[in-house]
Amino acid sequence: MKLIIGPAAEGDFYFDRPYLDELFWKKLQESRNLSIAAPRRVGKSSFMLNLLKNEKEGFHCTYIITESINDPNEFFKKIYKTLLSLLNTSGKFKQFFEDVFKRLEIKKISLNEIEFGRNEINYYEEILLLCKEVKESDARIVLLVDEFSQTVENIITDQNRDTAKNFLHQCRELRQSPDVKAKISFVYTGSIGLENLVLSIDEPRSISDLGHFTIPPLSVEEAKQLNTQIIDNDPVKFEPKARTYFLQKLNWLLPYFIQVIMSEIDTICKEKATSLITPAIIDEAFTKALDNRSYFEHWLVRLRSIFKGNEFSCAKEILKIAATQNGIDFYKLQDVITKYNIEDAAPLINILQHDGYLVRDEENKKYRFNSPLLQAWWLKNIVI
Ligand SMILES: Nc1ncnc2c1ncn2[C@@H]1O[C@H](COP(=O)(O)OP(=O)(O)O)[C@@H](O)[C@H]1O
Ligand SMILES: [Mg+2]
Repeated sequence: MKLIIGPAAEGDFYFDRPYLDELFWKKLQESRNLSIAAPRRVGKSSFMLNLLKNEKEGFHCTYIITESINDPNEFFKKIYKTLLSLLNTSGKFKQFFEDVFKRLEIKKISLNEIEFGRNEINYYEEILLLCKEVKESDARIVLLVDEFSQTVENIITDQNRDTAKNFLHQCRELRQSPDVKAKISFVYTGSIGLENLVLSIDEPRSISDLGHFTIPPLSVEEAKQLNTQIIDNDPVKFEPKARTYFLQKLNWLLPYFIQVIMSEIDTICKEKATSLITPAIIDEAFTKALDNRSYFEHWLVRLRSIFKGNEFSCAKEILKIAATQNGIDFYKLQDVITKYNIEDAAPLINILQHDGYLVRDEENKKYRFNSPLLQAWWLKNIVI
Protein backbone atom coordinates (compact mmCIF):
# COMPACT_ATOMS: atom_id res chain seq x y z
CA MET A 1 0.00 0.00 0.00
CA LYS A 2 1.08 3.57 -0.63
CA LEU A 3 0.82 5.00 2.87
CA ILE A 4 2.19 8.14 4.44
CA ILE A 5 1.35 9.13 7.99
CA GLY A 6 2.65 12.41 9.34
CA PRO A 7 5.07 14.00 6.87
CA ALA A 8 3.71 16.05 3.99
CA ALA A 9 2.40 13.82 1.22
CA GLU A 10 4.33 14.26 -2.02
CA GLY A 11 4.66 12.64 -5.43
CA ASP A 12 2.71 9.39 -5.76
CA PHE A 13 1.57 9.70 -2.17
CA TYR A 14 -0.19 12.99 -2.77
CA PHE A 15 -3.87 12.89 -3.61
CA ASP A 16 -4.23 15.63 -6.16
CA ARG A 17 -7.27 17.86 -6.42
CA PRO A 18 -6.50 20.06 -9.44
CA TYR A 19 -9.68 22.13 -8.94
CA LEU A 20 -8.30 23.19 -5.54
CA ASP A 21 -5.15 24.49 -7.21
CA GLU A 22 -7.35 26.40 -9.64
CA LEU A 23 -9.34 27.90 -6.77
CA PHE A 24 -6.13 28.82 -5.04
CA TRP A 25 -4.79 30.73 -8.07
CA LYS A 26 -8.10 32.47 -8.53
CA LYS A 27 -8.16 33.58 -4.89
CA LEU A 28 -4.55 34.65 -5.03
CA GLN A 29 -5.19 36.83 -8.03
CA GLU A 30 -8.24 38.35 -6.39
CA SER A 31 -6.75 39.02 -2.96
CA ARG A 32 -3.04 39.15 -3.78
CA ASN A 33 -2.12 37.82 -0.31
CA LEU A 34 -3.73 34.86 1.39
CA SER A 35 -3.96 33.05 4.65
CA ILE A 36 -4.65 29.33 4.75
CA ALA A 37 -5.89 28.45 8.18
CA ALA A 38 -6.76 24.86 8.86
CA PRO A 39 -6.34 22.45 11.72
CA ARG A 40 -3.20 20.39 11.79
CA ARG A 41 -3.04 17.34 9.55
CA VAL A 42 -5.57 18.74 7.12
CA GLY A 43 -2.91 18.79 4.43
CA LYS A 44 -1.64 22.38 4.26
CA SER A 45 2.04 21.56 3.83
CA SER A 46 1.26 18.87 1.29
CA PHE A 47 -0.91 21.31 -0.66
CA MET A 48 1.78 23.98 -0.73
CA LEU A 49 4.56 21.61 -1.73
CA ASN A 50 2.35 20.47 -4.58
CA LEU A 51 1.87 24.09 -5.69
CA LEU A 52 5.64 24.39 -6.01
CA LYS A 53 5.57 21.68 -8.62
CA ASN A 54 2.52 23.02 -10.43
CA GLU A 55 3.07 26.72 -10.70
CA LYS A 56 0.72 28.78 -12.77
CA GLU A 57 2.31 30.58 -15.66
CA GLY A 58 3.56 33.99 -14.63
CA PHE A 59 4.10 32.94 -11.00
CA HIS A 60 7.09 31.59 -9.22
CA CYS A 61 6.45 29.82 -5.91
CA THR A 62 8.91 29.42 -3.13
CA TYR A 63 8.34 27.63 0.18
CA ILE A 64 9.69 28.39 3.63
CA ILE A 65 8.71 27.11 7.05
CA THR A 66 9.09 29.46 9.98
CA GLU A 67 7.79 27.28 12.81
CA SER A 68 10.82 27.70 15.08
CA ILE A 69 11.38 31.43 14.52
CA ASN A 70 10.60 33.63 17.52
CA ASP A 71 12.11 36.94 16.52
CA PRO A 72 10.88 39.43 13.88
CA ASN A 73 14.31 40.18 12.45
CA GLU A 74 15.04 36.44 12.13
CA PHE A 75 11.79 36.10 10.22
CA PHE A 76 12.68 38.89 7.81
CA LYS A 77 16.18 37.46 7.48
CA LYS A 78 14.71 34.18 6.30
CA ILE A 79 12.54 36.01 3.76
CA TYR A 80 15.48 38.11 2.63
CA LYS A 81 17.74 35.10 2.14
CA THR A 82 15.00 33.33 0.21
CA LEU A 83 14.48 36.30 -2.07
CA LEU A 84 18.21 36.76 -2.60
CA SER A 85 18.57 33.13 -3.58
CA LEU A 86 15.85 33.56 -6.19
CA LEU A 87 17.76 36.22 -8.02
CA ASN A 88 20.48 35.41 -10.38
CA THR A 89 23.73 36.88 -9.07
CA SER A 90 25.04 37.57 -12.54
CA GLY A 91 23.44 39.48 -15.40
CA LYS A 92 21.11 42.32 -14.56
CA PHE A 93 21.53 41.99 -10.78
CA LYS A 94 25.32 41.92 -10.88
CA GLN A 95 25.86 45.50 -9.71
CA PHE A 96 23.20 45.24 -7.03
CA PHE A 97 24.77 42.07 -5.69
CA GLU A 98 28.22 43.59 -5.64
CA ASP A 99 26.90 46.46 -3.54
CA VAL A 100 25.03 44.14 -1.20
CA PHE A 101 28.07 41.89 -0.84
CA LYS A 102 30.13 44.86 0.27
CA ARG A 103 27.58 46.47 2.50
CA LEU A 104 26.47 43.33 4.34
CA GLU A 105 29.91 41.76 4.23
CA ILE A 106 28.60 38.55 2.73
CA LYS A 107 31.09 35.81 3.61
CA LYS A 108 29.73 32.83 1.83
CA ILE A 109 27.06 32.28 -0.75
CA SER A 110 25.82 29.00 -2.14
CA LEU A 111 22.51 27.67 -3.37
CA ASN A 112 21.02 27.26 0.11
CA GLU A 113 23.26 29.27 2.32
CA ILE A 114 24.15 32.91 2.60
CA GLU A 115 26.32 33.98 5.46
CA PHE A 116 26.41 37.62 6.41
CA GLY A 117 29.50 39.06 8.10
CA ARG A 118 27.82 42.11 9.57
CA ASN A 119 25.66 41.83 12.62
CA GLU A 120 22.67 44.02 13.35
CA ILE A 121 21.34 44.10 9.85
CA ASN A 122 17.79 45.39 9.55
CA TYR A 123 16.44 42.73 7.20
CA TYR A 124 13.08 44.41 6.81
CA GLU A 125 14.83 47.39 5.21
CA GLU A 126 17.00 45.09 3.11
CA ILE A 127 13.90 43.37 1.70
CA LEU A 128 12.57 46.76 0.62
CA LEU A 129 15.86 47.63 -1.06
CA LEU A 130 15.97 44.28 -2.77
CA CYS A 131 12.43 44.54 -4.07
CA LYS A 132 13.23 47.83 -5.76
CA GLU A 133 15.62 45.86 -7.97
CA VAL A 134 13.18 43.20 -9.08
CA LYS A 135 11.47 44.11 -12.30
CA GLU A 136 7.73 43.87 -12.55
CA SER A 137 7.98 41.99 -15.79
CA ASP A 138 9.55 39.02 -14.02
CA ALA A 139 7.25 36.25 -12.77
CA ARG A 140 5.34 37.23 -9.66
CA ILE A 141 6.95 35.66 -6.61
CA VAL A 142 4.62 33.65 -4.37
CA LEU A 143 6.16 33.23 -0.95
CA LEU A 144 4.55 30.28 0.76
CA VAL A 145 5.18 30.76 4.47
CA ASP A 146 4.31 27.59 6.34
CA GLU A 147 3.48 27.73 10.07
CA PHE A 148 3.50 31.53 10.09
CA SER A 149 0.99 31.65 12.92
CA GLN A 150 3.35 29.55 15.03
CA THR A 151 5.96 32.27 14.52
CA VAL A 152 3.48 34.88 15.75
CA GLU A 153 2.68 32.75 18.76
CA ASN A 154 6.40 32.22 19.47
CA ILE A 155 6.94 35.98 19.41
CA ILE A 156 4.02 36.51 21.80
CA THR A 157 5.32 33.92 24.27
CA ASP A 158 9.09 34.32 23.96
CA GLN A 159 9.06 38.10 23.62
CA ASN A 160 5.85 39.98 24.29
CA ARG A 161 2.55 41.11 22.84
CA ASP A 162 3.82 44.51 21.76
CA THR A 163 6.64 42.97 19.76
CA ALA A 164 4.12 40.64 18.14
CA LYS A 165 1.76 43.54 17.34
CA ASN A 166 4.59 45.48 15.82
CA PHE A 167 5.71 42.44 13.85
CA LEU A 168 2.24 41.94 12.36
CA HIS A 169 2.13 45.58 11.33
CA GLN A 170 5.55 45.32 9.72
CA CYS A 171 4.34 42.31 7.75
CA ARG A 172 1.36 44.33 6.60
CA GLU A 173 3.47 47.33 5.66
CA LEU A 174 5.76 45.07 3.73
CA ARG A 175 2.83 43.60 1.78
CA GLN A 176 1.61 47.08 1.01
CA SER A 177 4.83 48.81 0.12
CA PRO A 178 4.60 49.54 -3.62
CA ASP A 179 7.69 47.61 -4.71
CA VAL A 180 6.69 44.52 -2.79
CA LYS A 181 3.02 44.76 -3.66
CA ALA A 182 3.78 44.75 -7.36
CA LYS A 183 6.03 41.71 -7.28
CA ILE A 184 5.38 39.45 -4.32
CA SER A 185 2.38 37.61 -2.94
CA PHE A 186 2.49 36.19 0.55
CA VAL A 187 0.63 33.04 1.50
CA TYR A 188 0.68 32.34 5.22
CA THR A 189 -0.48 29.11 6.74
CA GLY A 190 -0.95 28.01 10.23
CA SER A 191 -2.52 25.29 12.25
CA ILE A 192 -3.28 27.89 14.84
CA GLY A 193 -5.89 30.17 13.35
CA LEU A 194 -4.22 33.45 12.57
CA GLU A 195 -7.47 35.34 13.18
CA ASN A 196 -7.88 33.97 16.67
CA LEU A 197 -4.27 34.70 17.46
CA VAL A 198 -4.49 38.23 16.19
CA LEU A 199 -7.73 38.78 18.08
CA SER A 200 -6.03 37.58 21.26
CA ILE A 201 -3.61 40.50 21.01
CA ASP A 202 -6.24 42.96 19.76
CA GLU A 203 -4.75 43.54 16.35
CA PRO A 204 -7.36 42.36 13.81
CA ARG A 205 -6.50 45.24 11.48
CA SER A 206 -3.01 43.91 10.89
CA ILE A 207 -4.33 41.04 8.76
CA SER A 208 -7.56 42.48 7.43
CA ASP A 209 -6.11 42.76 3.91
CA LEU A 210 -5.55 39.01 3.61
CA GLY A 211 -7.86 36.79 1.59
CA HIS A 212 -8.76 33.38 2.95
CA PHE A 213 -8.27 30.05 1.37
CA THR A 214 -9.61 26.82 2.81
CA ILE A 215 -8.63 23.24 2.22
CA PRO A 216 -11.88 21.32 2.48
CA PRO A 217 -12.08 17.69 3.56
CA LEU A 218 -12.47 15.12 0.81
CA SER A 219 -15.84 14.41 -0.72
CA VAL A 220 -17.09 10.82 -0.52
CA GLU A 221 -16.07 10.28 -4.13
CA GLU A 222 -12.58 11.67 -3.53
CA ALA A 223 -12.18 9.61 -0.37
CA LYS A 224 -12.96 6.50 -2.41
CA GLN A 225 -10.35 7.50 -4.97
CA LEU A 226 -7.80 8.04 -2.21
CA ASN A 227 -8.60 4.54 -0.90
CA THR A 228 -7.87 3.17 -4.33
CA GLN A 229 -4.69 5.24 -4.65
CA ILE A 230 -3.46 3.92 -1.28
CA ILE A 231 -4.25 0.30 -2.06
CA ASP A 232 -2.26 0.76 -5.25
CA ASN A 233 -1.28 -2.63 -6.67
CA ASP A 234 -2.02 -4.62 -3.52
CA PRO A 235 -4.47 -7.46 -4.03
CA VAL A 236 -6.72 -6.33 -1.13
CA LYS A 237 -10.19 -5.06 -1.87
CA PHE A 238 -13.29 -3.86 -0.04
CA GLU A 239 -16.24 -6.17 0.35
CA PRO A 240 -19.35 -4.62 -1.27
CA LYS A 241 -20.69 -1.85 0.98
CA ALA A 242 -17.60 -2.04 3.23
CA ARG A 243 -16.10 1.07 1.68
CA THR A 244 -19.27 3.04 2.29
CA TYR A 245 -19.32 1.73 5.84
CA PHE A 246 -15.72 2.91 6.28
CA LEU A 247 -16.45 6.41 5.05
CA GLN A 248 -19.66 6.75 7.04
CA LYS A 249 -17.85 5.68 10.15
CA LEU A 250 -15.09 8.21 9.51
CA ASN A 251 -17.52 11.05 8.75
CA TRP A 252 -14.85 13.79 8.61
CA LEU A 253 -12.96 12.73 5.52
CA LEU A 254 -9.46 14.00 6.19
CA PRO A 255 -6.78 12.32 4.08
CA TYR A 256 -4.83 11.86 7.31
CA PHE A 257 -7.53 9.81 8.99
CA ILE A 258 -7.97 7.74 5.85
CA GLN A 259 -4.24 6.99 5.81
CA VAL A 260 -4.25 6.07 9.49
CA ILE A 261 -7.15 3.64 9.19
CA MET A 262 -5.89 2.17 5.93
CA SER A 263 -2.58 1.45 7.62
CA GLU A 264 -4.36 -0.46 10.41
CA ILE A 265 -6.46 -2.31 7.84
CA ASP A 266 -3.27 -3.27 6.01
CA THR A 267 -1.76 -4.72 9.20
CA ILE A 268 -4.91 -6.64 10.11
CA CYS A 269 -5.26 -8.08 6.60
CA LYS A 270 -1.66 -9.26 6.74
CA GLU A 271 -2.13 -10.78 10.19
CA LYS A 272 -5.28 -12.57 9.13
CA ALA A 273 -3.85 -13.48 5.74
CA THR A 274 -6.92 -12.12 4.03
CA SER A 275 -7.33 -9.77 1.13
CA LEU A 276 -10.96 -8.90 1.70
CA ILE A 277 -11.72 -5.81 3.78
CA THR A 278 -14.90 -6.43 5.75
CA PRO A 279 -16.85 -4.16 8.14
CA ALA A 280 -15.47 -6.27 11.02
CA ILE A 281 -11.91 -5.53 9.90
CA ILE A 282 -12.79 -1.84 9.61
CA ASP A 283 -14.16 -1.84 13.18
CA GLU A 284 -11.00 -3.53 14.39
CA ALA A 285 -8.84 -1.02 12.50
CA PHE A 286 -10.65 1.91 14.20
CA THR A 287 -10.14 0.30 17.62
CA LYS A 288 -6.45 -0.36 16.93
CA ALA A 289 -5.87 3.18 15.66
CA LEU A 290 -7.13 4.52 18.97
CA ASP A 291 -4.33 2.71 20.80
CA ASN A 292 -1.73 4.64 18.90
CA ARG A 293 -1.21 7.78 20.93
CA SER A 294 1.00 9.43 18.37
CA TYR A 295 -1.85 9.57 15.84
CA PHE A 296 -4.01 11.85 17.95
CA GLU A 297 -1.92 13.26 20.75
CA HIS A 298 -1.24 16.51 18.90
CA TRP A 299 -4.90 17.40 19.41
CA LEU A 300 -4.40 17.43 23.17
CA VAL A 301 -0.98 19.09 23.00
CA ARG A 302 -2.49 21.80 20.85
CA LEU A 303 -5.26 22.47 23.34
CA ARG A 304 -2.75 22.69 26.16
CA SER A 305 -0.65 25.21 24.34
CA ILE A 306 -3.48 27.59 23.45
CA PHE A 307 -5.53 27.54 26.60
CA LYS A 308 -4.20 28.31 30.04
CA GLY A 309 -5.74 27.75 33.48
CA ASN A 310 -9.49 28.15 33.57
CA GLU A 311 -9.84 28.24 29.82
CA PHE A 312 -8.08 24.91 29.48
CA SER A 313 -10.29 23.33 32.14
CA CYS A 314 -13.37 24.79 30.46
CA ALA A 315 -12.36 23.52 26.99
CA LYS A 316 -11.62 20.10 28.43
CA GLU A 317 -14.99 19.91 30.14
CA ILE A 318 -16.83 20.99 26.99
CA LEU A 319 -15.05 18.29 25.00
CA LYS A 320 -15.65 15.75 27.73
CA ILE A 321 -19.39 16.34 27.62
CA ALA A 322 -19.41 16.36 23.83
CA ALA A 323 -17.48 13.07 23.79
CA THR A 324 -19.59 11.25 26.35
CA GLN A 325 -23.01 12.58 25.35
CA ASN A 326 -22.60 12.79 21.60
CA GLY A 327 -22.58 16.55 21.69
CA ILE A 328 -23.15 19.42 24.05
CA ASP A 329 -26.29 21.51 23.70
CA PHE A 330 -26.18 25.29 23.70
CA TYR A 331 -27.68 25.59 27.22
CA LYS A 332 -25.29 23.11 28.78
CA LEU A 333 -22.43 24.89 27.04
CA GLN A 334 -23.48 28.17 28.60
CA ASP A 335 -23.56 26.50 32.04
CA VAL A 336 -19.99 25.26 31.64
CA ILE A 337 -18.81 28.68 30.47
CA THR A 338 -20.45 30.32 33.48
CA LYS A 339 -19.03 27.70 35.81
CA TYR A 340 -15.49 28.55 34.72
CA ASN A 341 -16.10 32.29 34.79
CA ILE A 342 -15.13 32.82 31.17
CA GLU A 343 -16.12 36.37 30.32
CA ASP A 344 -15.96 36.17 26.55
CA ALA A 345 -16.28 32.57 25.42
CA ALA A 346 -16.54 33.32 21.68
CA PRO A 347 -12.79 32.94 20.99
CA LEU A 348 -12.71 29.65 22.88
CA ILE A 349 -15.63 28.19 20.93
CA ASN A 350 -14.13 29.57 17.72
CA ILE A 351 -10.86 27.80 18.35
CA LEU A 352 -12.57 24.51 19.17
CA GLN A 353 -14.35 24.75 15.84
CA HIS A 354 -11.43 26.04 13.85
CA ASP A 355 -9.08 23.41 15.23
CA GLY A 356 -11.45 20.73 14.09
CA TYR A 357 -12.76 19.40 17.40
CA LEU A 358 -16.35 20.57 17.21
CA VAL A 359 -18.93 21.47 14.61
CA ARG A 360 -22.06 23.46 15.20
CA ASP A 361 -25.21 21.46 14.63
CA GLU A 362 -27.83 24.18 14.20
CA GLU A 363 -30.73 21.82 13.76
CA ASN A 364 -30.20 20.01 17.05
CA LYS A 365 -28.93 23.14 18.79
CA LYS A 366 -25.67 21.61 19.86
CA TYR A 367 -21.99 21.28 19.15
CA ARG A 368 -20.67 17.84 18.41
CA PHE A 369 -17.39 16.24 17.52
CA ASN A 370 -16.42 16.69 13.91
CA SER A 371 -14.68 13.35 13.82
CA PRO A 372 -16.13 10.24 15.49
CA LEU A 373 -12.59 8.89 15.49
CA LEU A 374 -11.30 11.85 17.46
CA GLN A 375 -14.36 11.62 19.71
CA ALA A 376 -13.61 7.97 20.48
CA TRP A 377 -9.96 8.80 21.15
CA TRP A 378 -10.98 11.61 23.47
CA LEU A 379 -13.33 9.32 25.31
CA LYS A 380 -10.69 6.66 25.72
CA ASN A 381 -7.67 8.76 26.56
CA ILE A 382 -8.80 12.01 28.09
CA VAL A 383 -12.11 11.36 29.77
CA ILE A 384 -11.45 9.36 32.87
N1 LIG B 1 -3.38 15.44 -0.54
C1 LIG B 1 -3.05 14.44 0.31
N2 LIG B 1 -2.90 13.19 -0.17
C2 LIG B 1 -2.58 12.16 0.65
N3 LIG B 1 -2.40 12.30 1.97
C3 LIG B 1 -2.53 13.53 2.50
C4 LIG B 1 -2.85 14.65 1.69
N4 LIG B 1 -2.93 15.74 2.49
C5 LIG B 1 -2.66 15.31 3.74
N5 LIG B 1 -2.42 13.99 3.77
C6 LIG B 1 -2.18 13.17 4.99
O1 LIG B 1 -2.12 14.06 6.10
C7 LIG B 1 -0.83 14.03 6.70
C8 LIG B 1 -0.46 15.45 7.11
O2 LIG B 1 -0.37 16.29 5.99
P1 LIG B 1 0.28 17.74 6.07
O3 LIG B 1 0.31 18.29 4.72
O4 LIG B 1 1.57 17.66 6.83
O5 LIG B 1 -0.81 18.50 6.97
P2 LIG B 1 -0.68 19.90 7.72
O6 LIG B 1 0.46 20.65 7.12
O7 LIG B 1 -2.01 20.56 7.50
O8 LIG B 1 -0.46 19.56 9.18
C9 LIG B 1 0.08 13.38 5.68
O9 LIG B 1 1.14 12.67 6.30
C10 LIG B 1 -0.86 12.43 5.00
O10 LIG B 1 -1.05 11.29 5.80
MG1 LIG C 1 2.20 21.38 7.98
